[in-house]
Amino acid sequence: MHHFTYKNGVLHAEDVAVADIAASVGTPFYCYSTATLTRHYQVLEQAFANQDALICYAMKANSNQAVLKTLAKLGAGMDVVSEGELRRARAAGVTADKIIFAGVGKTRAEMAYALSEGILGFNVESLPELHALSDVATELRKQAPVSIRVNPDVDAKTHEKISTGKSENKFGVPYADAVNIYAEAASLPGIDVAGIHMHIGSQITDLMPYRDAFRVLRELVVELRAAGHKLRHLDIGGGLGVPYDSANDVPPHPDEYAAVVQEALGALDLKIVMEPGRVIAGNAGILVSRVLYWKVGAERTFTIVDASMTELLRPTLYEAYQEVWPEREALKVETPVLQDVVGPVCESGDYLAKGRELPPFSEGDLLAVMTAGAYGAVMASTYNSRLLVPEVMVSGDKFAVVRPRPSYEELIAQDVLPDWL
Ligand code: LLP
Repeated sequence: MHHFTYKNGVLHAEDVAVADIAASVGTPFYCYSTATLTRHYQVLEQAFANQDALICYAMKANSNQAVLKTLAKLGAGMDVVSEGELRRARAAGVTADKIIFAGVGKTRAEMAYALSEGILGFNVESLPELHALSDVATELRKQAPVSIRVNPDVDAKTHEKISTGKSENKFGVPYADAVNIYAEAASLPGIDVAGIHMHIGSQITDLMPYRDAFRVLRELVVELRAAGHKLRHLDIGGGLGVPYDSANDVPPHPDEYAAVVQEALGALDLKIVMEPGRVIAGNAGILVSRVLYWKVGAERTFTIVDASMTELLRPTLYEAYQEVWPEREALKVETPVLQDVVGPVCESGDYLAKGRELPPFSEGDLLAVMTAGAYGAVMASTYNSRLLVPEVMVSGDKFAVVRPRPSYEELIAQDVLPDWL
């Protein structure tokens, strides 16, 4: 559920007309809803209310300070994958003891910074990384709390580019090696074995892969306990899907997900850490764009808009489907036209929607690409020397620009000429 709805025939974000924001900040822009973010966080929190659980929001989904602060105020921890994300989380007021550091390629400098901050844990993805962390921690006279990311070799049944839990993926250590790696971890100076980590993929819409993965996790806990390890937490990753196609997608409700966790892992008496990203931020944001031209080609009709793959890479990178809503509700009842919604970037892959029955848009119309709150702004680029676009946050009848549009001068000033030119 989200708070982007039609009121008086025009699209609103909570109580603010999207057209009013467009008039104030220009297009394109991302628009986030505080009420939706809050709701999604709280639905998840309530689902796990009877379990000892910590929600570490996977801030790679959307790391705007206003988003982080909104969630931090609700009590969220953070899952970070770089020093940059760790610094952003700390800047938004998240305490270090609620931060988990994941990712296959942490540098020694990043490890040192995270150790100096005193984070809750490192999710370690290989033996060489474990040794590096042991070195860095020993040098700093610190103990690094560690979970080894174990690859359970299950198929998350999602797009191949966002599937992570199969043995062919670069993530985690093979299950068969886990017991030996834990033994080695326990023997290394500076390493404090704290838990186990698993994450099988993203945009998962079926609970079965989770059931399979959690079964593997439970077996591993039993084995590791038998080997004498004292575990404190289980990090079950993220990945819960959202309804990109609201008429057809029915992802599991957080309550159902929590029940699967409880059933598989509840008896182990361990703290559950989870890393949801998309399920919190996805439907809390839209990308608003203005129609530049309506072009009838030889074989196709194109709605050419001022947003592009530089603001939303998902359609071209993952063939992702995202709904497109007209800002004027009246357009919804007009006879739809088969069309592509495309941007100005010089790539055939630059589209936001392809082969879709959508309203006959006119120049100047506004439209919204829905479910753009996760993996939208964070994956943006300045390709074609396009400016990054503003991020706006709405709360009730108020809105604020939470990242302004840069100027062309700022864009160009990022380059520095060598002294021979
Ligand atoms: N934990 C780990 C270790 C992850 O790698 C990820 C996502 C998450 C948590 C959060 O997953 P979520 O709950 O958001 O599904 N750019 C892609 C998604 C990449 C996800 C990468 N890892 C997309 O737009 O679909």
